[in-house]
This record gives sequence, structure tokens and C-alpha cells, in this order.
Amino acid sequence: MPYDIRPLSDTLGAEIIGLDLAQPLDDATFAAVRQAHLDHLVLVFRDQRLSPQNQVAFSSRFGPLDRHPVTDAVLPDCPDVLVLSTKRKNGAFIGLPDAGPMWHSDLAYREHPALGTMLYALETPDYGGDTGFANMYKACEALPKHLADAVAGKRAVFLAGRNNKNRSFRKGLTKVEKDETPAVTHPIIRTHPETGRQSIFASPQHAVAIEGLDERESSEILTALFDHTAQPDFIYHHKWRVGDLTFWDNRCVQHIADLSRIDDPAYIRHMHRTTIGGGPVE
Ligand code: SIN
Repeated sequence: MPYDIRPLSDTLGAEIIGLDLAQPLDDATFAAVRQAHLDHLVLVFRDQRLSPQNQVAFSSRFGPLDRHPVTDAVLPDCPDVLVLSTKRKNGAFIGLPDAGPMWHSDLAYREHPALGTMLYALETPDYGGDTGFANMYKACEALPKHLADAVAGKRAVFLAGRNNKNRSFRKGLTKVEKDETPAVTHPIIRTHPETGRQSIFASPQHAVAIEGLDERESSEILTALFDHTAQPDFIYHHKWRVGDLTFWDNRCVQHIADLSRIDDPAYIRHMHRTTIGGGPVE
């Protein structure tokens, strides 16, 4: 299958044109895709027509899948697929309409956070609903010395849904789901297990404190760190097209969804997400 890999920005991202992911990729093509993912951090496969089972099959080639803690937003007949959707049935949202309100890395609040995430666009709005992706290798390389010193060797405390309290979330974790996802700690700076490069792992949606520091100092350092990681130089904004399957590397990328039109009844954004499990953060 001939295909092209074209960079999307100077920061990160490449689009792949010409691959049909509904068909199994041969080993050489799969190896090239895997390398492109390590090189570009976010891949966008254009013009796909994927069933949930196709998406699960492709995602699973990168490792075992992880299920999201919000269990009532998954496809009943394919529970590895999380539905992100502003559509409603009988008045209720059929999936998570507002996932990713702040910069984050998926499942960072788990002992073993996600390796990568695939998000497949079935319906996209005429405008709005972009996803921002930020290159945490670049952010790490550009850390001012005083901040690099302040976070060196430190671990942050990560909590599911912690920073969601200021928003009226349409679907959130139930008490049982919250109890099943207690706080964990991870290094603020991590080393990518495949590339060996360092990146910033702490992110505003889930990192609530720095272990061993008092609240004031911890909050000052995290605020400065998050101001640094959100700089435009590190960011690419993806404008979705129907048929895009994006695949980002949660080990070196943070992302955020634009939810500015979430309360507009004309705004329809409907996507299927699969999440590939990762290993320990080191
Ligand atoms: C997510 O954080 O998984 C959702 C990102 C998006 O909806 O753009």
C-alpha cells in the first residue's frame, strides 16, 4: 500500500495519507508507522472508515488496551472503545461530551499511565472542537534553569478528575470509580522508555501537588511549570476532519480539547477513543 508521511507543524505531528487501517498492515508498514509515531509524537491517519472492531484491532498491535474508569461512556458491545460525544439519547449524553478540558496525559493518575491514545472522528463540527497537542520533549529542553532545579528528582501527586471541580461535568466518575482510582505519584520529569529522551510528565488536569513540599511551594512551582508547558512554541492545534484517526504518545505529549462550543445545541462532535496501556513512569 503506497502511503505518504507529511509533517503537520514544526512542533510535532505528521499526517499519513494512503493507509487503510481497516485492513491489517504488513509488518514492514507497521514498523514504519511505529517509528513515525516515535519521531512525530502525534500521527493523523486521514480518510479512515473504521468499525469499532477495526480500531480495537489496530490499537491492540501497540499493546494491551486500557479501559477508562467512566464505565457508562463505553460502547456496550465493544467496551474497549470509549465514546466522546456531544450527541444525546433520551436527553442524556451518549458518551463523554467534555473529556480533556485541561492539558493532560491520558490515565496519568494510574500506576501505569497510557502509552498512547487513538481518537477517531466520526462527526466533526463546522468549527471549534480542535485538540491541542504539546511537545513535552521540547518543553523539557527549554525549561529555565531555576525551574529545572526546582523539579529535578521530584515526584508529583496525580489524581483522577481533581481539577474538574470547577466545571459542570456531564459525566464524571462515580464514587465507586473514584475509590478504584486512588492518588498515585510519578516523576515530574520522565524518560521515554523507547527513545530515552526526557520530557515533562506533570500536567494541570491531574498533577495536584509535589511530594514532600508544602502546599504553597508546591503550588508555586506547578503553576510556573504549567505556564511553561502551555507556551505556543510547543503546541500544534489539530482541526479535525471526518475520518481522521489520531494517535498520540502520552509519554511525551500533553493534550487539551477545545470545549468552547460545548453548550451550543448545533455543535456535534462524535468520536471513538481507544487507549493503549503503558508501563511504569521512570
Ligand atoms: C481526551 O482527552 O481524550 C479527549 C481529547 C479530545 O476530545 O480532543
